[in-house]
Amino acid sequence: MIKFRLGKGEEREILDYSNLTFFRKLASKMRDPKTRFDVKEFVSKGEDYLFNYTNKNVGSVDEKRRKFLKSLIFGIAAAAVVGIIPGVRVLVPPTVTVTTGFPKSLLVDSSGNPIKASSLPVNSPYIIIFEYPMTGEPNFLINLGDSSGKPVEIQPTKVVVPQTGKTYDFPGGVGPNKSIVAYSAICQHLGCTPPYIHFYPPSYVNPRQLTASEPDQLTAAALLAAKEANVPALIHCDCHGSTYDPYHGGAVLTGPTVRPLPSVILEWDSSTDYLYAIGSVGVATYPNGSNGIPSQDPTDDLSSSFGSPVGDKTTVTETENPFSS
Ligand code: FES
Repeated sequence: MIKFRLGKGEEREILDYSNLTFFRKLASKMRDPKTRFDVKEFVSKGEDYLFNYTNKNVGSVDEKRRKFLKSLIFGIAAAAVVGIIPGVRVLVPPTVTVTTGFPKSLLVDSSGNPIKASSLPVNSPYIIIFEYPMTGEPNFLINLGDSSGKPVEIQPTKVVVPQTGKTYDFPGGVGPNKSIVAYSAICQHLGCTPPYIHFYPPSYVNPRQLTASEPDQLTAAALLAAKEANVPALIHCDCHGSTYDPYHGGAVLTGPTVRPLPSVILEWDSSTDYLYAIGSVGVATYPNGSNGIPSQDPTDDLSSSFGSPVGDKTTVTETENPFSS
């Protein structure tokens, strides 16, 4: 049972583990390209569509589940229109994990050819994405530079989780200039995915963005945070304004998120110039736990019903450029 502490001695139940498991499974199916939740249908048909969808993809919707889903409808609706939420990890106190038992996955282009690290554009305004460790789980691949477009070496750093005050070690950049990093592209606030969350290269981190048309609009708080942290580029989520620092391990610059972006641990083979995803570090995207309780071995989750592992290759794609100018 997950309880929320309201004050002295007062606790309110918010979720039991059976509902937690059920909802995680539902959220995972919603994100899976094969069983993608159809937002338009949901908007036009409402809860009937949600019940039918759940029935078909997760399991029978009895009276208890119906009640539970109804209690979540507002959240599901909000999340559905902005990008499907990652589950209830928003509600669950996070643990920090380093997972290195995931499959080593070669980053390839759509023709199956390995991506060469030295060919990755620096500060690309396009969103460069790959899925890892499960299909349907996008990550940014970014080659970071300074304001003049020169690659910047990304140092290993300690990343703070504002929600708990705990820290973890981010290993730093890889590639010929140690400037390549990869972070989860699932916003840690409510799970918006690209293009709602995207990388703003240096040329887009300036006051003109305050009056730009959506979606390429930064908040004043994000601009100020970038200035204070002395970082020329940002990851910003247009849904509610969370801002992350790509130069320092995906750390939180502005809320409402209270969790950094988990990092994908990359490996660069200097003899071939190929890039591999080999694990993850950060707040616990994994372990999911097949029964709603975090498992001892996070790699177990790759064979659970939460999705299918990407395997030993994962395809890098460029998605829509959200910038209008
Ligand atoms: S989902 Fe709320 S800021 Fe990203």
